Amino acid sequence: MKRMLSGIKPTGQLTLGNYIGALRNFVKYQDDYEMIVFIANLHCITEYQDPKDLRKNLTDAVALYLACGLDPEKSTIFLQTDVHAHAELGYIMACNTYLGELNRMTQFKDRMAKGEKNMTAGLYSYPCLMAADILLYDANYVPVGEDQKQHVELTRDIAQRFNNKYGETFVVPEPLIAKVGARIMSLSDPTKKMSKSEETNKGCIYLLDDLKSARKKIMSAVTDSLGIIQLDKVNQPGLYNLIEIASSLSGRSMEDIVEEFKDQGYGKLKGYVADVVCESLEKIQNRYNEIIESKQLEKVLNEGALKASKMADAKLEEVKRKIGLEIKY
Ligand code: AMP
Ligand code: TRP
Repeated sequence: MKRMLSGIKPTGQLTLGNYIGALRNFVKYQDDYEMIVFIANLHCITEYQDPKDLRKNLTDAVALYLACGLDPEKSTIFLQTDVHAHAELGYIMACNTYLGELNRMTQFKDRMAKGEKNMTAGLYSYPCLMAADILLYDANYVPVGEDQKQHVELTRDIAQRFNNKYGETFVVPEPLIAKVGARIMSLSDPTKKMSKSEETNKGCIYLLDDLKSARKKIMSAVTDSLGIIQLDKVNQPGLYNLIEIASSLSGRSMEDIVEEFKDQGYGKLKGYVADVVCESLEKIQNRYNEIIESKQLEKVLNEGALKASKMADAKLEEVKRKIGLEIKY
């Protein structure tokens, strides 16, 4: 069975974008692949997080993974810091990555261009840690949203370079980007990605939002003044985004939704999108509440870390041996 791996960095509460672009797909994949998913808590601290908030966000993220349907019997679920090999291989990967490569990462470049101050060395070198996350497990596929594709491509380059230098060690992974829902846009500014780091909350739906406020956000989503319901991503990005959200949650094609609503106006269409979103949120939130009450998280994480450590430690040993870091008599 091919192996698939992905991680989420819960620096805030998980969003509908995370669900549609990532989580939902993990759940589908776990039947056909050996699935490894982890909470990338080391990646969270590339920027200051209030410790209390961080702890809550990490806990909620695990509970939401399970609530969205990840099954610990089928998937390996763990916290990154519970498996020490990540940080160690992360350093080794940093020693096999060129500054020029990190300078080309658009996420970092964009923030640099904006003149952001006080960016940390951890933020700059984070693609090296991400490469370690993936390569430790010989993952064949890495399902991510569009924004992470470049990081997976860098991981491939690092893996290939390492294999050439030290002999076949790492599986070269492939990014896997879903066709629908890879980039859910903000409801208040459909030219930007829906993101937990948005300044206002209006454009972003959180998985734990109460249903009333989720509905309100959709009903007041920015659209356009053309008044035509059709699929035109360039001229009607807001409308397109709403239809894409409804399509990915309902399983209906975008064309089918357009066909139903094309003569009914934006208000009706938004009402439908809100219904579909609230139905999904309600299911997830009910499960989430059960999971938090059942106190099963600790057990899931302990078992996950044990399984993951076995794989990761073996790979790290192999890497250290090949590099010549180990002295064995
Ligand atoms: P992040 O929240 O940035 O750590 O992202 C976690 C995962 O969710 C990554 O695979 C992202 O590509 C995906 N993701 C985050 N936001 C969105 C979005 N607005 N649309 C689609 N996928 C997203
Ligand atoms: N960098 C990813 C993000 O910001 C999270 C992440 C960390 C990840 N390590 C990973 C994703 C390994 C896939 C594979 O969303």
